[in-house]
Amino acid sequence: MMRDMGKNIKILGLESSCDETAAAVVNGEGEILSNVILSQFEEHKAYGGVVPEIAARAHIDHMDRLIIQALEEANCGFDDLSAVAATSGPGLIGGVMIGMMTGKAIAAAKNIPFIGVNHLEGHALTVRMTDKAEFPYLLLLVSGGHCQILAVKGVGDYQRLGTTIDDAAGEAFDKTAKLLGLGYPGGPAVEEAAKRGLETRFKLPRPLKGRPGCNFSFSGLKTAVRREVEKLGGDINQQDIYDLAASFQKALCDSILDRMGRAMDLYLEQYPAHHHMLVVAGGVAANTALKSNLKQLCDHKKFTMRVPPPSLCTDNGAMIAWAGVERLRLGLCDGLDLAARARWPLDPDAPPAAGAGVKA
Ligand code: KG4
Ligand code: ZN
Repeated sequence: MMRDMGKNIKILGLESSCDETAAAVVNGEGEILSNVILSQFEEHKAYGGVVPEIAARAHIDHMDRLIIQALEEANCGFDDLSAVAATSGPGLIGGVMIGMMTGKAIAAAKNIPFIGVNHLEGHALTVRMTDKAEFPYLLLLVSGGHCQILAVKGVGDYQRLGTTIDDAAGEAFDKTAKLLGLGYPGGPAVEEAAKRGLETRFKLPRPLKGRPGCNFSFSGLKTAVRREVEKLGGDINQQDIYDLAASFQKALCDSILDRMGRAMDLYLEQYPAHHHMLVVAGGVAANTALKSNLKQLCDHKKFTMRVPPPSLCTDNGAMIAWAGVERLRLGLCDGLDLAARARWPLDPDAPPAAGAGVKA
């Protein structure tokens, strides 16, 4: 077991569970020595979403080159690596297998440990690399594939307080962008359009607001946007689009805030004596409106708020390498027979959420 992890420990992290191919080298102190990433925007643009088969083929085409680049930028070679960490799920299974098999091959060839990382754990632990955050903390993970609230108690120790019962928040942004003809990926485009719009113009639902529990639901909101677009028909103009984007973003933020407020109350009951921190991660954490809404909620509930920089909030290899550092430190390595998993909840005890699919 390697408890003394310093600058000499170097871990290669590989990510390929969705539409980003990424490789990074992080040392035992959490310094990012390289973090290279290739987003497959162009490959999926025409479809308005990620096509699994196209994603898997693109990962095969680029992974080797990205690993070489990551090692070069980190100024090291395969022989300098202490371990390899690769996302082993949850995600699109073809892509997961490509990163994981590549990681295993390097580990086998160099006779170094292999660590299969849960992609969600990568997001969950990033703040310990960027901000040296201590356990426990409350995490809102909002991305294109996931939307969950978790109490992060330790490495491998999570309690899920809420999850989406249908779409993820980023998915709702992407689908709304598609409806409004704003392009892909939709989150940044909707955010830009919303800045010029009137958020009170369209009366859209706040899904699950005021209801028990901390789960999310966004598919009704997307349907409501579609109805408004249909009502406007061929007469839809640029200002309508801006106003719809703003009204959608406001409804989504209101819904998340309601769910988050309830989760904070639950968390405070469980951890009354601790310093309370909310960490926001995942691609949607880049949304300025959501961040400022959440900051107000944190001030009200006396939580501090941490949001890793956007490049480390969206999918990347450094978060997987860092989760590898955390796991190696505890001796939590995996055999080369580890299987890729399309579904892999962080909290195995969480009740299944109806309709949550792979997002649970
Ligand atoms: O974490 P991520 O890179 O990949 C997944 O694991 O899904 O998140 C990507 C998601 C996309 O749905 C994208 O539209 C959304 O994050 N996103 C945003 C913003 N930037 C990215 N959503 C809202 N506002 C943004 N500024
Ligand atoms: Zn992710």
